[in-house]
Amino acid sequence: MLPCQRHLFDIPNDVAYLNCAYMSPLMKPALEAGTAALARKAHPWEITPDNFFTRSDEFRTTAAQLLDCSADCIAIVPSASYGIATAARNLPAKKGQSILVLAEQFPSNYYPWQRLAEEAGAALKVVAWPKDEDHDWTTAVLNSLTPDVAIAALPHVHWISGGKLDLVRIGEACRKMGAALALDLTQSLGALPFSVRDVQPDFAAAASYKWLLGPYSVGLLYVAPKWQGGIPLEENWIQRANARDFASLILYTGNYDVGARRFDMGERSNFTLLPVAVRAMKQLLEWEVAQISETVGALNRQLANAAADMGFSAEPLRAPHYLALRRKEAIPKELPEVLAKERVFVSVRGSSIRVTPHVYNRAEDGERLMACLRRIAA
Ligand SMILES: Cc1ncc(COP(=O)(O)O)c(C=O)c1O
Repeated sequence: MLPCQRHLFDIPNDVAYLNCAYMSPLMKPALEAGTAALARKAHPWEITPDNFFTRSDEFRTTAAQLLDCSADCIAIVPSASYGIATAARNLPAKKGQSILVLAEQFPSNYYPWQRLAEEAGAALKVVAWPKDEDHDWTTAVLNSLTPDVAIAALPHVHWISGGKLDLVRIGEACRKMGAALALDLTQSLGALPFSVRDVQPDFAAAASYKWLLGPYSVGLLYVAPKWQGGIPLEENWIQRANARDFASLILYTGNYDVGARRFDMGERSNFTLLPVAVRAMKQLLEWEVAQISETVGALNRQLANAAADMGFSAEPLRAPHYLALRRKEAIPKELPEVLAKERVFVSVRGSSIRVTPHVYNRAEDGERLMACLRRIAA
């Protein structure tokens, strides 16, 4: 278990921020890295051609450690949706086949597949909310993985309920069935242990501004070696094999840089934001994702117990960092605004109060939420 890391964040004493699944706060060292990085643009003569490549490769190396894969398999993208659109552009589906998604999956991991299904004449197959006692998404997905499934487009954790999928078992089943596996790890990477080596997905995308504790508008995309000869969403100069030779860029080449670099977004060398994302990911690696999961999970367990006394329940098979509280009575949509007046911050998603702490939270943050719920939701 990690001791509370609040000293690394600029969170006022009276703020109980329990909303990392909405947006994480930037830690002070990452903010400092970003401020220094922005200042460099005032002196562009200090930004060398080499810098277009070194920071990007540092991003790849750091992200690869979190994903447990080779740095060459990482592309730099602006958002989860960009990464998922890249996967949808490259994974084949045809008439008579289907693309598997979860009920009420996040839109960025739904619309690209809906479009691909429409264009290919394939069907979108939606796995219904599991009705068994455990709300077991893994079994529900495994039961839906029939031979017609060309692509399973899934998260590690359902963004509304926190329900967790066993991606190792699902990955194995996909390989057996010949289905591709495309993942949106935005609500899990950095807070829930994950390994490319164990799961073997074809693509996996994550935005950095939630559990990677990074800035908005930066994300990562894992591309399995077998897809690294694919078609990027954009064609830009820096993806090409001759990009390091600035004097000869107009010697147009049909060759791309190695690995997943061909899928990088334009201006991927983002001098301001990449150092912020890298600093945050390095901190996550230092804390260790398993320890983050355990620490945040312990806080959520206490909250789940306290909330149970008020008639709230949560997913039995939820990811430890995620606590979605629901009960028979509807949750008022305006609850977050009411709580915000008390300087307590959570989200309402679907019919649940979504509580997502991190290592900057103290036990008293949770106690304040429970005290508010006792008063407001009684
Ligand atoms: C599961 C999930 N995926 C992706 C995103 C963000 O998507 P994008 O990076 O396309 O804005 C969110 C944001 O709430 C999310 O919850």
